[in-house]
Amino acid sequence: MPPPARIPLLVLGFAALILAILGGLARLGLNPPLPAAMPMDAALAFHGPLMVAAFFGTVIGLERAVAAGHLPGYLAPLCSGLGGVLLLAGAPPAAAGGLLLAGAAGLALLAWQFHRRQRAPWLLPPLYGALAACAAHAAWLAGLPVPAVVGGWLAFLVLTIAGERQEMSRLLPPSPRAARLFHLPVTLVLAGAALLPILWRPGAAALGAGLFLLALWLGRQDIARRNLGARGLTRFVAVSLMGGYLWLAAAGLLLPFADPGGLLYDAALHAAMLGFVFAMVFGHAPIIFPAVLRTPVPYSPLFYGHLSLLHLTLAVRLAGDLAGNHGWRALGGAGNALALLLFLVMTIGSVVRGRFQKSA
Ligand code: HEM
Repeated sequence: MPPPARIPLLVLGFAALILAILGGLARLGLNPPLPAAMPMDAALAFHGPLMVAAFFGTVIGLERAVAAGHLPGYLAPLCSGLGGVLLLAGAPPAAAGGLLLAGAAGLALLAWQFHRRQRAPWLLPPLYGALAACAAHAAWLAGLPVPAVVGGWLAFLVLTIAGERQEMSRLLPPSPRAARLFHLPVTLVLAGAALLPILWRPGAAALGAGLFLLALWLGRQDIARRNLGARGLTRFVAVSLMGGYLWLAAAGLLLPFADPGGLLYDAALHAAMLGFVFAMVFGHAPIIFPAVLRTPVPYSPLFYGHLSLLHLTLAVRLAGDLAGNHGWRALGGAGNALALLLFLVMTIGSVVRGRFQKSA
């Protein structure tokens, strides 16, 4: 598929992200003044599924489809993107959820094809992650509440990123002992996600331990640690990743004490899904966007602006969660939304700058 034809898929994904952000703000009681036609009720109700299944399902699926290089591969992001549209349009959950599940199944199929072709160790975690997403989407479709399936969504995002980082660090492979040790956090994450719907406390403990150990493993083995002293984009990527690992470790420490839907649940989920996952997105965007759209995203030191804002506002939000202070929590949440929007503006600005530089 030529790069311009991929843009509608990205638009579907980013539309889900923006509405999910607005839904998250509405959950905090912050209702931005918006046209009445905006599907705010759906955005509020489906904030989590829109973020994980629709936005990440679409963009991760798109990145994988580009790497696979065959047209049927694009069905995965298409299904995830359309699933998000149906959720927002108020379609029956079976139709929207069915499409989201089909998107995750397509992603699992792509991950399995990559693994069968190359059999490299870094191709297994994304396969497990995609299978975890299938299980979680199916359970949600069957009527389980979000807190019961959120472990599968965490496993999806975290294991997909862990595989990407292992691949990007392959020039510095782990020792055989470290490579064996990697199986422990992966097993704990998957076991915790599977236990969560049946036995919350042991599931949260296993999942939390898995996230914490994974953060330690990645923080130690990732080539990014050595790149902290570099300059320019290399340093920006390294700083983003190392900050992300700290949030992942924090999520791992908080999760075992969280109750479904409580304040610590909010803190643990967003430490992982915003602090870790979005720090990775910010760090990788200048590398992945050019691969997907065949357009340069020139690095700018201003990128530290949205990265710092994300860390700072997330710290305020978590402080609010831990202290039971709704004001801080809402202030932090609004700042989180601003950090994501600033990231979008900076990235689009950079694409435009890259185009001008190319044509000059
Ligand atoms: C702009 C930033 C965000 C804001 C303002 C926000 C806000 C919220 C709020 C207020 C809740 C309800 C927590 C509770 O039950 O007390 C929530 C839940 C949740 N959020 Fe976010 N969030 C944001 C970003 C994200 C991101 C980036 C992800 C995923 C990648 C995410 C995934 C979830 C999930 C899965 C839930 C659980 C939903 C449920 O239990 O029904 N959020 N969010």
